[in-house]
Amino acid sequence: MISQVSFLTPTITANSTIVCDDNMHFMRNLPDESMQLIVTSPPYNIGKSYEKRSELDDYIKAQSEVIGECVRLLAPGGSICWQIGNHIAKDGEVVPLDLVLYPIFKEHGLKLRNRIVWHFEHGLHSKKRFSGRYETILWFTKSDDYVFNLDPVRVPSKYPNKRHFKGPKAGELSGNPLGKNPSDVWIIPNVKNNHVEKTIHPCQFPVELVERLVLALSDEGDNVLDPYLGVGSSVIAALLHDRNGFGCDTEQSYIEVALQRIKQLRDGTLRTRPMGKPVYDPNLPNGGHK
Ligand SMILES: C[S@@+](CC[C@H](N)C(=O)[O-])C[C@H]1O[C@@H](n2cnc3c(N)ncnc32)[C@H](O)[C@@H]1O
Repeated sequence: MISQVSFLTPTITANSTIVCDDNMHFMRNLPDESMQLIVTSPPYNIGKSYEKRSELDDYIKAQSEVIGECVRLLAPGGSICWQIGNHIAKDGEVVPLDLVLYPIFKEHGLKLRNRIVWHFEHGLHSKKRFSGRYETILWFTKSDDYVFNLDPVRVPSKYPNKRHFKGPKAGELSGNPLGKNPSDVWIIPNVKNNHVEKTIHPCQFPVELVERLVLALSDEGDNVLDPYLGVGSSVIAALLHDRNGFGCDTEQSYIEVALQRIKQLRDGTLRTRPMGKPVYDPNLPNGGHK
């Protein structure tokens, strides 16, 4: 385990800046419009080990401050991706946090480009409602002139050899040979115990989810920030694709794991689930994996 992390002292390695710090403090020291992509998953105010449950109004106020600071840091052609699920009130009422937070982004003049549904198979089995198996990513841009690279994130077409059967293009392939648009429903396994990326964190991003956002919404050499970094999944996704990663988390043990994972990435020993790997299907030989 790397032990040189000290509170408020950023660990700066080639292309990454990581610190154990409160995000408002960390972000205040970063320059205006310096980030092309801000991608994060904040606490959901549901009493996880790393958060104190607060009144919903207080939670929204705190989120509003963090979002305001993110908007200041966002480059004119940049994107913010806020990955979020539901807050469950003490009486079991479900509060979809993306609906609650959407007006804050609008107040800052951001424009929603997609509300991406992230579907996964594993989670708690609810007794008094249907078990939750999706969360959302709100993708906002600061302007109408924004980076969107579709080709690097295309996925295999269902019928790659399908051709136009009439008209001037008869006989030609009807789809893009590079694959199709991945759509706004993403089926990506969440990180549970048997996932190759599992660490001590109770709810870390699958790296492949952030990779898709990094490739589509930024270019090589751009800056990517995660103000709720956890164990560093966003910075890893950024480094995998030659972007610069920035992030902070208030839990020192998570920052230590993040730095360890970055070291493993540089050593070539970090295991991540490859982008595009099919979801395990128990009905297929070897689950459908090669
Ligand atoms: C949902 S988790 C993010 C996990 C992350 N996406 C990953 O892949 O590891 C939210 C994180 O926010 C951190 N956190 C909570 N309040 C914070 C604050 N004020 N500043 C920075 N980090 C904070 C928590 O410690 C927790 O690790």
